Amino acid sequence: MKQPVSIKKPEGKLGVLLPGMGAVATTFVAGCFLARKGLGEPIGSLTQMGTIRLGKRTDGRSPLIKDFIKLPGLNDLVFGGWDIFPENAYETGRHAEVLSKEHLDLVKDELSQVKPMSAAFYPEYVKRLNGTHVKKGPTKKDIADQVEEDIKSFIKTNGLSRAVAVWCGSTEVYIEPSEVHQTLKSFEKGLENNDPGISSSQIYAYACLRQGVPYANGAPNLTCDMPAMFELARERQVPISGKDFKTGQTLMKTILAPGLKARMLGLRGWFSTNILGNRDGEVLDDPESFKSKEVSKLGVLEEILQPKLYPKLYGDIYHKVRIEYYPPRGDQKEGWDNLDIFGWLGYPMQIKIDFLCRDSILAAPIVLDLAILMDLAHRAGFHGIQEWLSFYFKSPMHAPGLYPEHDLFIQSMKLKNTMRWMMGEELITHLGNEYYD
Ligand SMILES: NC(=O)c1ccc[n+]([C@@H]2O[C@H](COP(=O)([O-])OP(=O)(O)OC[C@H]3O[C@@H](n4cnc5c(N)ncnc54)[C@H](O)[C@@H]3O)[C@@H](O)[C@H]2O)c1
Repeated sequence: MKQPVSIKKPEGKLGVLLPGMGAVATTFVAGCFLARKGLGEPIGSLTQMGTIRLGKRTDGRSPLIKDFIKLPGLNDLVFGGWDIFPENAYETGRHAEVLSKEHLDLVKDELSQVKPMSAAFYPEYVKRLNGTHVKKGPTKKDIADQVEEDIKSFIKTNGLSRAVAVWCGSTEVYIEPSEVHQTLKSFEKGLENNDPGISSSQIYAYACLRQGVPYANGAPNLTCDMPAMFELARERQVPISGKDFKTGQTLMKTILAPGLKARMLGLRGWFSTNILGNRDGEVLDDPESFKSKEVSKLGVLEEILQPKLYPKLYGDIYHKVRIEYYPPRGDQKEGWDNLDIFGWLGYPMQIKIDFLCRDSILAAPIVLDLAILMDLAHRAGFHGIQEWLSFYFKSPMHAPGLYPEHDLFIQSMKLKNTMRWMMGEELITHLGNEYYD
């Protein structure tokens, strides 16, 4: 990343394209409409509510982030996307049962206008779903072309100056990167040949990047985490980021684990299980989709605790993650964690967490921040993987050869320091004590 000489102003309207318009996407869109009308607060969103300290502590400069860097306002966003079901955002929001009917009805007219375009969908990558609102074409290349046409016409019809995409679709089955993902050329050949390594989400990412639309991946799918997409992102000078929104249990893990490590407390085992009953839970009930999620959730502890550096504390951890589909709970997930930790002389202790959370309520502000910050990255001339946005992801994409940063506090510092650096402000190191001269 080069320090931007100038950041393009956020002029005109910004399109927010959502491949997958289910519970998270509709909760996000409804929340933006409600906040626009002053009928709700965008809680959980750093771009809307966060401040940033500038200069010395004594300077007393802590503006709102959105005042410090010019960001588009909520009124500048125009929402669109794709789904395999044709229902509009109001109907889907009602079905998802995240927000109450009373809440949704306050913005019913606006939500009813948000209608998904037909999806690029191959059912073999999401086995539990069967949709009818789906594009047809002999090859994956034909489908990608149709998605590109959708993007162009969405931008034109709505008179937008630019767009970003945030994948809010279902979790696809686990795919190991193969030959087809290694170069742009092999990927494009794969599109022509209907290569089974190319899933639906990869088609969206490809189409978006070709159209100069930054792409953030909210699910653990491979999608844009492959050399072919890095090449395309570089060629078109477009930012990419992922994977898998950091909400619920993993959020808690990346808050707690750095604390244990900072105090040099040992960990023997961490068992996480949760019950959820939304469509996401149903999709994750399929072992192949769960595998994508499991891989994304398991990496966290290893990277934060660095067992190679601290073999006595973290060299022998039993880490297990379970997700159970339990329909009565809907979107209101319950996550249990049991931590077996140890302290002075190895004496064992336990921590239990019971997090009664709401999945989409935690994810919606992340979608908003990613849309706004991916646009900022693009306006600042950044392209390729945006590691400074690791803060938002369970399984942050990172440059080849580097390890991902999972610690929420380091991620937060990195994010804010990147903003300071972009704007030519001094970085905050928390160094120094004025009393020792
Ligand atoms: N809510 C959270 O806390 C959270 C956290 C991390 C990741 N995620 C991920 O975000 C995604 C969305 O979660 P959700 O709760 O909204 O799920 P959801 O099932 O309510 O919505 C997903 C939508 O994607 C659609 N879809 C599937 N394949 C598609 C395709 N190829 N093209 C277009 N649409 C497609 C489905 O029809 C569905 O409407 C999931 O992958 C989930 O794992 C959610």
